[in-house]
Amino acid sequence: MTISELDTLTTPARDLPPLRTAGTPQEPTAPPAPPPRDMRAAMREREELRERIVTGRPDAVDRQHRLGKRTARERLELLLDPGTFVEVDLYRRHPGTGSGPTQHTDGVVAGGGMIDGRTVFVYAQDFTISGGSLGSAHAAKIHKVLDLAVETGAPVIALNDSGGARIQEGVMALDGYGGIFRRQVAASGVIPQISVVLGPCAGGAAYSPALADFTFMVRGTAQLYLTGPDVVRAVTGEQVSHAELGGAEVHSARSGLASFVAEDEESCLADVRYLVSLLPDNNLDPAPVYPAGGAGADRRPALAEIVPAEPNKPYDMREVIAEVVDDGEFLEVHEHWAPNVLCALARVDGQSVGVVGNQPLVLAGVLDTAASQKAARFVRFCDAFGIPLVTLVDVPGFLPGTEQEHTGAIRHGAKLLYAYCEASVPRVQVILRKAYGGAYIVMDSRSIGCDLSLAWPTNEIAVMGAEGAVNVIHRRELAAAADPDRLRARLVAEYSAELAHPYFAAERGLVDDVIDPVDTRGAIARGLELLRRKRRSAPQRKHGNVPL
Ligand code: HXC
Repeated sequence: MTISELDTLTTPARDLPPLRTAGTPQEPTAPPAPPPRDMRAAMREREELRERIVTGRPDAVDRQHRLGKRTARERLELLLDPGTFVEVDLYRRHPGTGSGPTQHTDGVVAGGGMIDGRTVFVYAQDFTISGGSLGSAHAAKIHKVLDLAVETGAPVIALNDSGGARIQEGVMALDGYGGIFRRQVAASGVIPQISVVLGPCAGGAAYSPALADFTFMVRGTAQLYLTGPDVVRAVTGEQVSHAELGGAEVHSARSGLASFVAEDEESCLADVRYLVSLLPDNNLDPAPVYPAGGAGADRRPALAEIVPAEPNKPYDMREVIAEVVDDGEFLEVHEHWAPNVLCALARVDGQSVGVVGNQPLVLAGVLDTAASQKAARFVRFCDAFGIPLVTLVDVPGFLPGTEQEHTGAIRHGAKLLYAYCEASVPRVQVILRKAYGGAYIVMDSRSIGCDLSLAWPTNEIAVMGAEGAVNVIHRRELAAAADPDRLRARLVAEYSAELAHPYFAAERGLVDDVIDPVDTRGAIARGLELLRRKRRSAPQRKHGNVPL
C-alpha cells in the first residue's frame, strides 16, 4: 500500500456521505435477497449427507468385515448403553493436500456416551477411511474428546484401528500425535484411560495404548508395533509376520503392554464395560458402590482347604482371591505376563479393591523383574484412583541368578517398593503362609506403610526359610558334625520354633492379628470398612523420582 493510498483511508469525517435519517428513501445498495430457503429440502439434504457419512463406503465396510473386524460405529454400539452416543465433529475433515478434502469424520468417530448410566468419552478410529490414519483433523477430534473427558471428570476409551501417522500430512500428523500424548500424560491419574486395540496400531499410534492405564487387544486382529514387517525386513533383514512382531500374544505375554487379551471384539468390549464398572470416574470420586453387605461376618471354610500348610506345596492363589472377593468375581490384569504375581480388580462388600497376590503355582510365587513391574504399575494405578489395596502374601523371595541381577532385579524391585511406600489408599496385608526377606518387605509390609497386617497361624515371616538359615548361621558346626543331617534337623526345628511363626512378628507389632483362615474375607472387609476415610497428606514437592 502506498502513502497516497493510505491517505484515502484517513479521509476526514466531513467528506463522508451524510447519515440516513428516518424517512430518507433507502438506496438499493444490498444485493437482492436469496430466494427463501426450502426447509424440507434442507432437511432432506442434511439427512442424506448424514446417512452417507454414517453408512460409509460399502466396499470399504465389506473389506473391514472380511478382515474379521467391525466398523467404528458397530463397535461403539457394543460398547455404549443403547442410544446414548453423542457424536462430536461428524462433519469434520481435512481440506486436502492436493487431491481434495478428506472424507467426513476424517477417519475417527468421536464423542461421549454412557456405560451402565455413567458418562464416558470415546473415540473409535475408522479403518475404512484412509486406514484410520491420523492427520491433523483426526487428531484435533481426539484432542477435543480428551479435553472434554478431563473437564467433565469422566473416563476416556480409545478404540484403535489405524495405519499410524497419515503420510500425506507429513509433520502435521506427527504434531497431532504429540498433542494426544501430552494430553494423555496430563490426564494420567486424573481420569481412567482405557485403550482398546482392534486392528493395526502402527508407528506413533502405538504410544497411545502404552500411555493408557489399561490396554486391551483382540487375538488375531490386533497388532501393535513401531515399525511394520516391511521396515523390519528392509532394516534388519528379519522376516517376521504382523502377529509375530506385535500380535496380542506378544504384548499380553512378553512385552507386558497389553493388560487384557480377548478372543473377539464382542467379548473384548464387554470386558471394557466390566472394567469401567470397577473404576471411579476420576481421581476425586469414589468407585461405584454395589449393593452388598454382611461380608464382615462371612466365613469361608474352603480357605482352610485351598492353602496347604507345607511351605513349598503349590496351590492356585486365584482360588483364594475368589473366596475373598464378592461373588467370586474378579478381573485379572496382565493374566499372561509375569503370572507369578496376580493383580486383580474386584469388590469386597460392594466396594472396589485392587488385589495383589503372589502365585505359588508359577515359579513358586517368587518376585522377578517382570512381576515387580507388573505389580508396581497396578499399585500406582489403584493409589492414583483411591482404590484400596489388599495384598495376599505367600512369597519365598526374589528370584536369584545372574540373568535377574543383570536385567535389573534391583531396579525393578525398587519400583514395587516405591509404589507401595507412596500409596496412601487403605492397605490391608494378609500373609497366608510364608514371607521371606526383601520380598516380605516389598509385599506391603508394616514397615513400608500397610495399615492392617493379618497373618494366618501356619505362617513363617523371616529373613529366609529355616533350612537356608541354618545352613548359613551354623555352617561351621555342620561341617564339623559327625552326623550333620541329624544336627541340621535339630537346628531347623529350634529355628522354626523360635522365629518362623506369626507370633514372633505379632509380639513385635509387625502383624496386627493372627486370624483364622476361614475368617479372611470377613477380616479384610472389616479392615477396609475401618480404613474407608483414611487420608494421608504428603509434603509438597513437584514429584518423586520413581526408579523408572
Ligand atoms: C495414509 C494410509 C496409512 C497411512 C494405511 N493407509 N496406512 N494412508 N497414511 N499411514 C491407507 C492405505 O493407503 C489404504 O488406502 C487404506 O489405508 C488401507 O490400507 P491397506 O494397506 O490397504 O490395508 P492393509 O493391507 O490391511 O494394511 C494395513 C497396514 C498398512 C498394515 C496398517 O496399511 C501399513 O503398513 N500402513 C503403513 C503403516 C505405517 O508405517 N504407518 C506410519 C507409521 S510412522 P486406500 O485408499 O487404498 O483405501 C508413524 C510415526 C509417528 O506413525 C511417530 C510418532 C511418535
